[in-house]
Amino acid sequence: MAAQSADENITIVIFGASGDLTRRKLIPALFNLHRKRRLPKSVRIVGISRSKFSHEEFRAHLQENVRQFSKETYTEIGWASFSELVFYISSDVQKKEDFEQLEKELSALEKGTANRLYYLSVAPQLYIPIAQNLGASGMASEQDGWRRIVIEKPFGRDLVSAHELNMVLETVFHENQIYRIDHYLGKETAQNILFMRFANAIFEPLWNRNYVDHIQITVAEDVTVGDRGGYYDTAGVVRDMFQNHLMQLLTLIGMEPPASVDADALRNEKVKVLRSVRPIALSDTVRGQYEGYRKENKVAPDSQTATFAVLKLYIDNWRWQGVPFYLRSGKALKEKTSEVIVQFRCPPLSLFGMAQNSSMAANILSLCIQPDEGVHLRFEVKKPDSAHETESVDMEFHYSTYMKNGQALPDAYERLLLDAMRGDPALFIRSDEIEMAWTIIDPVLKGWETEEAPKLETYPLNTWGPEAADVMLALDGRDWHTGCGHMDEGVDGDGMFGEKD
Ligand code: BG6
Repeated sequence: MAAQSADENITIVIFGASGDLTRRKLIPALFNLHRKRRLPKSVRIVGISRSKFSHEEFRAHLQENVRQFSKETYTEIGWASFSELVFYISSDVQKKEDFEQLEKELSALEKGTANRLYYLSVAPQLYIPIAQNLGASGMASEQDGWRRIVIEKPFGRDLVSAHELNMVLETVFHENQIYRIDHYLGKETAQNILFMRFANAIFEPLWNRNYVDHIQITVAEDVTVGDRGGYYDTAGVVRDMFQNHLMQLLTLIGMEPPASVDADALRNEKVKVLRSVRPIALSDTVRGQYEGYRKENKVAPDSQTATFAVLKLYIDNWRWQGVPFYLRSGKALKEKTSEVIVQFRCPPLSLFGMAQNSSMAANILSLCIQPDEGVHLRFEVKKPDSAHETESVDMEFHYSTYMKNGQALPDAYERLLLDAMRGDPALFIRSDEIEMAWTIIDPVLKGWETEEAPKLETYPLNTWGPEAADVMLALDGRDWHTGCGHMDEGVDGDGMFGEKD
């Protein structure tokens, strides 16, 4: 038999094998890649955690999850061939001596030279011990193939801890071995932001302070914290969503055209945007907590944790001077939707009796990240049978109608796992990028602990958050928009971009 090339021989080592992310996302994504024949020719997936499982028990445990979370692609035959790639090793990641044993067991499975992707799907306090133990046991050395480490969020809980984590990682790995993941970057529609901007000639000339009135980035969830109260109460919405997902969307919307799509060219531009963000004034923030949050499991009865926030910020550069960016996210809101709204300036002259500065007459580009992935462009047309009236209409593109044979968009983790295996870090976050994001967020979190903090407002479930969120925009003469629904789902006389209150 011909020797396998090292590039085709990969071991994916998942630390935190019995965790939620592994069963809901990582294994289903790997299963889908296997079904699409996109995994390398020779691959093994090795789960690591403290529990004692045999390989067979671990596979049986995963099978149920794949059945549930890869419903569209699951077949018994598919599972049978995938499960042969899955193994389990019990190990205490805090013990250095366990890593020596782990190395032996991995080598025995690999039977020769293999590349390794270490995926840390564990509690964040284990990132440092695992990295240090990998280093101390020689498991980060690239003598026998490449070694890469994927780190999940949260990456630190403030600038200091993120910096410390970067320092430790960099004593063991080179930056090009470190893959800091933000699953929002793996979403097709988040990547599509760059394609919309830089694969078309019609948007970019307008993409600046001369034509854009303001930008809204909404990542709304209809779920409560559920059984994640313990983690969430120490994090809150700003650490959980803004520092990572919303900041990443902000960079994609705000960045300058990169010289190429090479990882460093892209990330240099993203860092430049973050560096240009003006410190956020506390008066430009809103914080809310949904009713009943304090009664959630493992949440403090007097918790001050925000489950909803709005941050209004400015990017101090030539392109965006004076254009407000409104970022909002929260749990227990009216619906699950992630979208970016680019609201253009109103026409300079009210020729047809359109109200000057009225948001109803402004053109709006909606980039729908999820759930109904696509793009809408709202513009004004003549209302039939009227002399001077205009009406807002939408031009829409939806991936769901574009995809053939009911195919689904790939899950973000499929893309990111593939990129990590291929060695393309473009959709992962560089150390300076993550620290810059914390530099923006830290003062807000610190400010919220002072007397100048805005009041923590309670909001009812199934709403769009506290009133203060609407008041903030109203004072600026603007409204929140959620524009990604289908046109035929109730366009009224005001067009489909009415407020959803
Ligand atoms: C995670 C947060 O990063 O993103 C969760 O920790 C949140 O609290 C989730 O629910 C949202 O991701 P998505 O892909 O469902 O929008």
